[in-house]
Amino acid sequence: MDIRVSRGDIAQQALDAIVVNLFEGVEHPGGATGAVDRALDGAISALISDGEVRGKKGENTLLHTLGRIPAKRVLVAGLGKQGEFSLDVVRQVTAEACRALRRAGVKRAATIAHGAGIGGLSALAVGQAIAEGALLGTYTFTRLKSRQEDHQELAELLVVERDADKAKELDEGVRIGRILAEATVLCRDLVNEPANRMTPTRLAEAAQEIARVHGLEVQVLERAQCEELGMGSFLSVARGSVEPPKLIVLSYRGDPDSPENNLGLVGKGITFDSGGISLKPAANMEEMKADMAGGASVLCAVKALAQLKPKINVTAIVPATENLPSGSATKPGDVVRAMSGKTIEVINTDAEGRLVLADAVCYARKLGLRRMVDVATLTGAISVALGDVRVGLFTNNQGLADELLKAGEAAGERYWQLPMDEEYRELITSQVADIKNTGGRNAGSITGAYFIKEFAEDTPWVHLDIAGVDMSEKDKGYLVKGASGIPVRTLVHLALRLAAR
Ligand code: BES
Ligand code: MN
Ligand code: ZN
Repeated sequence: MDIRVSRGDIAQQALDAIVVNLFEGVEHPGGATGAVDRALDGAISALISDGEVRGKKGENTLLHTLGRIPAKRVLVAGLGKQGEFSLDVVRQVTAEACRALRRAGVKRAATIAHGAGIGGLSALAVGQAIAEGALLGTYTFTRLKSRQEDHQELAELLVVERDADKAKELDEGVRIGRILAEATVLCRDLVNEPANRMTPTRLAEAAQEIARVHGLEVQVLERAQCEELGMGSFLSVARGSVEPPKLIVLSYRGDPDSPENNLGLVGKGITFDSGGISLKPAANMEEMKADMAGGASVLCAVKALAQLKPKINVTAIVPATENLPSGSATKPGDVVRAMSGKTIEVINTDAEGRLVLADAVCYARKLGLRRMVDVATLTGAISVALGDVRVGLFTNNQGLADELLKAGEAAGERYWQLPMDEEYRELITSQVADIKNTGGRNAGSITGAYFIKEFAEDTPWVHLDIAGVDMSEKDKGYLVKGASGIPVRTLVHLALRLAAR
């Protein structure tokens, strides 16, 4: 979709449709909506007084203009209650409106910049939210369908603004929003891709492609190199698969003169999680193609950073492998040695995410990364706790966690911090090794996080458990059914914040 900003009057745009808006409870619309209403001889206010248009958030009403203005149709997009208005509402409403336009066969549309007027939001941020909402809300994954469905794409969105200064800011916002949205879209594509087409090798190729396009450094460590580094924990997961494991390292260097000004992003890259010998039940197992969502998100965050160019060095590390059962697979009770030297008793081969992350986190420390965030579809238990609404956040450093929480607010992605009291440590104490990889049913997400914390040691670290939010069950706001691309935009905002200091 082409998104452009243009100076002018929304009522004068000669396109398939124009989008205006309405806060809940407003009976006599003002501003651009009022002007369009007058041009339509009061058609919008008539719908309002009849109770058919109420301005509820996500409500979309399509009117035909019958030649009274140049555009063929007007979409009235509900903004919800004025007191609850925010940038995230702009993102959500734009997404819903663009899907409504597409359903109606609209190819070219113009919109006003929701919130940049009476809403009181900065035009830059509004431009960003509109681009994100439009591009993420109309996302589809159709490359594996032999017959492309014959619905039209919404090909062009024009953001129309009267004020020259605001138009300039909107334009810059759209540029940034597109970068963030395109990185999120690539993440969704990688996650939606089935596991036979998104093997560790293919994920490594995707990282190499990002590096080639954006001029980044990339390194892919093969099994032999990981063996030499002593990554017995990562490799224990790969034992059951015929697909070769890959440790993917993708680096953006925005501050080459200060190598210590850096951030590590470690992402779980299980391209299919069958559970291994501790085999999962068949129901919904196909969803485990998405068990590399954390890995995809860190690679795509680095892609966006390469375009936004903040003054910070960011390295993504993705331990990628399948987790499958076979005659050579790791068995419950096996003890493996991680790169840090710690021994791990594998109680359950389905708790494989923490095993691959242990070595990846250790490798991040070896590379000299001074703070890190890991992203993982780690536990089903996080869905029990937080559902599909918030990401679980764990940390050994409140300062870094606070930065991430603020980045999340800027992105409109939601987090909830869970505790890490040292009493949880004893749940993963092993009889035979230094640590075991499961802590029983209670506090499942916390013991999973605690396991990784033992390998982060004294490096400031945040763990994001995205197992509840990596896939959306339905189209809702800027999410569509399938991969969400969370937390790509938060990670980008985090790096921007850390660089600005
Ligand atoms: N990849 C799963 C977690 C998961 C479950 C992600 C559902 C998305 C949806 C992870 O590897 C796993 O299997 N975790 C186990 C841990 C347990 C064995 C301690 C779980 O959550 O059951
Ligand atoms: Mn598992
Ligand atoms: Zn897993």
